[in-house]
Amino acid sequence: MKSPWKILMATPLFFLLTLHTLASPAYDHQRGTRRSNGQVCIGCVLVVSVIEQLAQVHNSTVQTSMERLCSYLPEKLFLKTTCYLVVGIFGPDIIKLLRADVNADVVCHTLEFCKQDPGQPLCHLYPLPKETWKLTLEKARQIVKKSPTLAYSRSGSDICSLPFLAKICQRIKSAIQNSLPFKDVDSDKYSVFPTLRGSHWRGRDCNDSNKMAYPGRRPDNWDTHQDSNCNGIWGVDPKDGIPYEKKFCEGSQPRGIILLGDSAGAHFHIPPDWITASQMSLKSFFNLPTALTNELDWPQLSGATGFLDSTSGVKENSIYLRLRKRNHCNHRDYQNISRNGASSQSLERFIESLSRNQLLDQPAIVIYAMIGNDVCKRKIDPVPDMTTPEKLYSKVMQTLQYLDSHLPNGSHVILYGLPDGTFLWDNLHSRYHPLGQLNKDVTYAHFYSFLNCLQVSPCHSWMSSNKTLRTLTSERAEQLSNTLKNIATSQKFTNFNLFYVDFDFQEIMEEWQRSGGQPWQLIEPVDGFHPSEVALQLLADRFWKKVQLQWPQVLGKENPFNPQIEQVFGDQGGH
Ligand SMILES: *[C@@H]1O[C@H](CO)[C@@H](O)[C@H](O)[C@H]1NC(C)=O
Ligand SMILES: *[C@@H]1O[C@H](CO)[C@@H](O)[C@H](O)[C@H]1NC(C)=O
Ligand SMILES: *[C@@H]1O[C@H](CO)[C@@H](O)[C@H](O)[C@H]1NC(C)=O
Ligand SMILES: *[C@@H]1O[C@H](CO)[C@@H](O)[C@H](O)[C@H]1NC(C)=O
Ligand SMILES: *[C@@H]1O[C@H](CO)[C@@H](O)[C@H](O)[C@H]1NC(C)=O
Repeated sequence: MKSPWKILMATPLFFLLTLHTLASPAYDHQRGTRRSNGQVCIGCVLVVSVIEQLAQVHNSTVQTSMERLCSYLPEKLFLKTTCYLVVGIFGPDIIKLLRADVNADVVCHTLEFCKQDPGQPLCHLYPLPKETWKLTLEKARQIVKKSPTLAYSRSGSDICSLPFLAKICQRIKSAIQNSLPFKDVDSDKYSVFPTLRGSHWRGRDCNDSNKMAYPGRRPDNWDTHQDSNCNGIWGVDPKDGIPYEKKFCEGSQPRGIILLGDSAGAHFHIPPDWITASQMSLKSFFNLPTALTNELDWPQLSGATGFLDSTSGVKENSIYLRLRKRNHCNHRDYQNISRNGASSQSLERFIESLSRNQLLDQPAIVIYAMIGNDVCKRKIDPVPDMTTPEKLYSKVMQTLQYLDSHLPNGSHVILYGLPDGTFLWDNLHSRYHPLGQLNKDVTYAHFYSFLNCLQVSPCHSWMSSNKTLRTLTSERAEQLSNTLKNIATSQKFTNFNLFYVDFDFQEIMEEWQRSGGQPWQLIEPVDGFHPSEVALQLLADRFWKKVQLQWPQVLGKENPFNPQIEQVFGDQGGH
């Protein structure tokens, strides 16, 4: 499910795709039918909840509320069109059911987007109806006996398989394909397109027609004639005939930053506005098209390689921006090689997209931050699936050997430990989830248990009411962190120095609380799992301070020519 139209078309409502991605890390290859059923179910419950709550907030009919939702969506990527289309088909059933005063769980079970398999528990987000579940469901089924929705939900899950939709699907697909710069998503090329793993993920290519011009390379002939390293510094000073790159950057020890991360590194984020009826407006979805083409990650805002001004109001800059501030010769030299769902065990499948030429390029700082997926599992019993210290050791050593044969000499690699995720449950379980705020009926405890029941939780291991399980998970995470620490202290490599830092969420939380913040603000509200933008910025800040204090050589020197670079080259061509 990587290309945008696939995500769009595979879901009954454009909207479901938010949850699709929430629950489907790009590198999970064991996607069973149970899981995709779970995603369809949760998507249905989410959309029906939003429709119901919009009607409540605006005291309107369900019909009006559905139209309102569609009207909020942007035209781009045919989102609005698809929405009206979908409402036209499935709307009548949803209206009938909501009129009968049943909740979203019942609606979705009735329409068979949610199914209770024999012998499996009943998965529900809202409190169970007062009458028995069976009776409520039977009544609801009477209301929509022969509905097109049922025909659809029974037929599988590709909306385009409906005969009367096939044609329009085709048109939408080709229009989307034509309107987007479709590049190979996993290509290791730098790109001038911001999304689809373009410059939001790594420094913008400054000359698409020249393969040998890219961020991070050592300048070719001091960039006398062109900007071979894309840092915006090139040409010759007419006063003395000395190339600017030589004048300003020689001996300044330029270096790039590369992040090997998971969805936290990628800054996975679903804006709460998208599902909170009381806050929903025309403005809520303007960023949806961009988000869709970025797999719902927001690398341009992330803690390690983000370059846009933060939207969180926190002043701290990303590690990349700090590195650039320290030495303007580092401009654009960042790569964010992160994947949703990545772990120590899956990194080998995409590490090849790291792009560094050992002979031609500047050294790099590589941050290895696989912070959750080695212990975060979604099975009913997650423990057997967790990475063992032995397995971690062997994969990390493989990764490091790969890096040793690809990084220019003088690089630095920093291994991040795993956090103790018990803060998730401790700080969220009794708070209301965005879907539960209006009627005070869904806490994160309910939300987590719904995800676990459907086996789509991004981290059953910590997002669980089972204290034994949470404790076991934290113990394993600590063992894995210790393994990383041992590797860092005992192993030597030819082309880089190796360091270890703790992922100390407790520290961050205390710092945040001292400045008047609340712990829950550090967690993404919609998924109740990922670090929020504030948390990522605070982490970046801690990281920077720690490294500056303990290993200043990693960050390099302050470039005394920074002011002159600004004078001559302004913003160096932006990002
Ligand atoms: C909601 O709308 C109905 C019918 O339009 C009206 O009778 C009722 O007073 C309204 N309620 C509120 C709280 O505005
Ligand atoms: C891009 O690269 C080509 C080929 O090396 C070169 O001729 C051209 O001048 C470069 N353009 C810029 C803007 O540097
Ligand atoms: C890294 O890139 C991913 C996308 O590849 C992005 O989602 C994430 O926010 C980025 N992380 C950092 C720390 O820049
Ligand atoms: C790598 O760089 C270090 C200094 O950073 C130097 O001592 C060492 O000789 C270099 N190794 C090679 C193979 O060039
Ligand atoms: C809690 O988790 C532990 C460890 O996975 C498991 O053995 C136990 O059965 C779970 N308890 C309940 C009530 O599910």
